[in-house]
Amino acid sequence: MKAKPTILKLGGSAITQKDKPLKVNRPVIENLAQEIAEANTPQLVLVHGGGSFGHPLAKQYAITDGFKDHSQIMGFSKTHDAMTTLNGLVVQALIQHNIPAVSIAPSSFVLTKSGRIEKMNSDIVTKLLDMKFVPVLYGDTVLDSDKGFAILSGDQLIAKLAIILDAEQIVIGVDVDGLCTADPKKDSSAKLIKHTDLKELKRKHSWIEKARVIDVTGGMYGKIIELIPAIEHGTRTTIVNATKKGTVRKALCNEKVKGTIIEKE
Ligand code: IPE
Repeated sequence: MKAKPTILKLGGSAITQKDKPLKVNRPVIENLAQEIAEANTPQLVLVHGGGSFGHPLAKQYAITDGFKDHSQIMGFSKTHDAMTTLNGLVVQALIQHNIPAVSIAPSSFVLTKSGRIEKMNSDIVTKLLDMKFVPVLYGDTVLDSDKGFAILSGDQLIAKLAIILDAEQIVIGVDVDGLCTADPKKDSSAKLIKHTDLKELKRKHSWIEKARVIDVTGGMYGKIIELIPAIEHGTRTTIVNATKKGTVRKALCNEKVKGTIIEKE
């Protein structure tokens, strides 16, 4: 029987230097490519975020607000271009580690309506998986039937893909150890939530830190909200610190790892 897909999201916070515009975190990308090669996951889809490539430009040109004036048009192009640059660097690192990565721009097959995915033809992703490629997608600027354009976060994209592809698991690599009771970067009493389910998440959602910094798509809080439909579908979700060696490989291989596991029940 064919293995169900795994979706790996590499957060922009892990693969870029978040406070330095257009700067990658090269050692992290190199190490992740190595770990992904070692894990050798059958049916892997990779999605990465924007970090300091996507968010500052998206914010500068108010892309999430939709089309309001002509000056944003260049901003849309620049934001998309920055994402393709980051994507190229990720794909190159994967290919150097002998991973058959193929880049697909979400802006070429996803349309949103008020920022939510409205149309998405995932046939190419399915066909690539069938042929044992590793499709590599990313949070992107997309066209929007109400607002003209919008930002599609990698998190909204992975939740949708998990449902369409009936994914076994989602692994999310960020720059903190997982979901915490408070923002671990600001509050030293923040505790890691090792395991939780939807019921508990909904009950205690005020736990989730609401850090936004310059993240136009909503920080950890936004992430969890986006993931709920996929978890409801039955896709187990593990959040780990992708800047720490070994965590992503262990999560992909279903080994015990420091992080947060969220299951349906
Ligand atoms: C954002 O994608 C993409 C753009 C701003 C163009 P994400 O929202 O998935 O990025 P990260 O992981 O939070 O950086």
